[in-house]
Amino acid sequence: MPLIKWRDSYSVGIEKFDKEHRHLVELINRMFVIVRDKDNITAVSDAVARLIDYTEFHFSSEEAAMKEAGFPNLAAHQQLHARLTQEISAFQQKIVAEESDVGPKFYRFLRDWLLGHILEEDKQYTQYMIATANR
Ligand SMILES: [Fe+2]
Repeated sequence: MPLIKWRDSYSVGIEKFDKEHRHLVELINRMFVIVRDKDNITAVSDAVARLIDYTEFHFSSEEAAMKEAGFPNLAAHQQLHARLTQEISAFQQKIVAEESDVGPKFYRFLRDWLLGHILEEDKQYTQYMIATANR
């Protein structure tokens, strides 16, 4: 399974969030390598915990910016964030319980989520911010 490669088309047009998204890509790739190499369970759960921490940080940073900009779909976006956080925690529990094959599934889930999140959902709020800032 290939690692995620950052592409220019992933840019949401706001440097701060591009930077955070790049860091998420890095953490997801790092976690995948650890899972793929069947590193010990402590290394795996550490990598997942770091990813969860950073995801929470990133979500709060996005939500604060959306709030400040008066983004009308803030509540819906917050719900997406809450659902994703729940899903990641569920995977974390399965990984800790050492259920077989969770790793690759988790990686695929994260990859699809991240790319969908950046390309569709995040572009909505960043486009709104860019448009209102230039008004
Ligand atoms: Fe994001």
